[in-house]
Amino acid sequence: MSATQLSSRRLSGALIGYGFISGNGHVPAYLERKRTTDDVEIVAVADICAARRELARKALPQARIYPDYASLLQAEAGRLDFVDISTPPCDHAKVAHAAFDHGLHVLCEKPLTTTLEDAAALLEHARRARRVLFPCHNYKHAPVAKKVREIIDSGRIGKVRALTLNTFRNTHAKGVTEWHTHWRREHRYSGGGIAMDHGSHSFYLTFDWMGAYPTAVTAKMSNLEPGRWDTEDNFSAALTFPNGVAYAQLTWTAGVRKVMYTVQGDQGAITIDDDDLQLAVMRRTDGPDVAQGAVTWEVEKYSISSHWMDASHVSWFNSMFDQFLVAIRDGDFVGKDAREAYLCIQIITQAYRSAADSCREKPLSAEAWHVPSVPMEREQGLRLGR
Ligand SMILES: NC(=O)c1ccc[n+]([C@@H]2O[C@H](COP(=O)([O-])OP(=O)(O)OC[C@H]3O[C@@H](n4cnc5c(N)ncnc54)[C@H](O)[C@@H]3O)[C@@H](O)[C@H]2O)c1
Repeated sequence: MSATQLSSRRLSGALIGYGFISGNGHVPAYLERKRTTDDVEIVAVADICAARRELARKALPQARIYPDYASLLQAEAGRLDFVDISTPPCDHAKVAHAAFDHGLHVLCEKPLTTTLEDAAALLEHARRARRVLFPCHNYKHAPVAKKVREIIDSGRIGKVRALTLNTFRNTHAKGVTEWHTHWRREHRYSGGGIAMDHGSHSFYLTFDWMGAYPTAVTAKMSNLEPGRWDTEDNFSAALTFPNGVAYAQLTWTAGVRKVMYTVQGDQGAITIDDDDLQLAVMRRTDGPDVAQGAVTWEVEKYSISSHWMDASHVSWFNSMFDQFLVAIRDGDFVGKDAREAYLCIQIITQAYRSAADSCREKPLSAEAWHVPSVPMEREQGLRLGR
């Protein structure tokens, strides 16, 4: 069936993994969609945990429930259009490969994979199978992030030259209590700590706001409880871009849950503290060009409700899912978001190498970004078109 035919009728999907993000973020959004646009229905769920399967049965009484993804795919693939993968990262690649083998499109939670080799193989498989691979890069769909995009596009802060992205969390994110609640602190499930868990969000925001891709990374990280966990709880990285620099700091040991971002342009700046956004635009005065005397700032303040405290980010899901549908409609099998997911994994893995090598800078080379047989629309170092 062609991509166009698929997108002109209601799509049938299956959930692989019914944990926190699936139960609190994806399913309520799908149910909302069913009530409104009625363009998608979840008809099957697989989860390896019996208690989670029981909860899935209650949330989706019409859905058929399976104890693992393989039995679900075997029984359901002929009736499905896509799978939505919300397992821990260690299993994303194998489930996605199996879904492509059954001719299905894939919506996959971040991080796309835990290794760069797995990410490259997945993009290549999507291209070969002619099925969409789409990562859940949902932070771009937060209302406050959309406002940043709108301000940058308006030209009011001029050319963006620097970013800071601080993500403060008072604890590691936790999974549901019925399964391995602390899997993010165990490398075998997560592939890494806060950089692997949350880094993608910071990095794809930098691509969007800088309007470019980075060429190098240097990073530092630490683990305040090494006897207990084998993944990092603090991470910072500096990314070199052709047109500037971005600094990302991520911590699970903060005293507050919050994001604080700044976007510095050559004509002004945006500062974000969760929902609060301040725009400062430079005004040249007639005064002498000494010290700060020749410039004043016109300041605008906005409060843009983005529900940052709700870790399920349910209110951002359907804006992102719309893009997944567009990719299916357009046959955009390995689109910009998929390639950026690959780049995120490259940054995370190169950042880990940098941190292990006394913060030595590691390249993010065009060659390393090349995915075999998948032509990159834009090479490293070139500005992104909009
Ligand atoms: N985009 C976001 O804002 C966001 C937020 C939270 C979580 N996530 C991502 O969602 C994924 C899941 O995180 P979570 O917090 O929901 O975890 P969780 O522990 O709450 O849920 C994981 C579920 O998957 C099930 N599971 C584990 N292995 C499985 C397998 N092989 N097959 C089928 N089921 C399996 C578990 O039983 C559990 O029910 C992770 O990749 C995480 O990074 C994304």
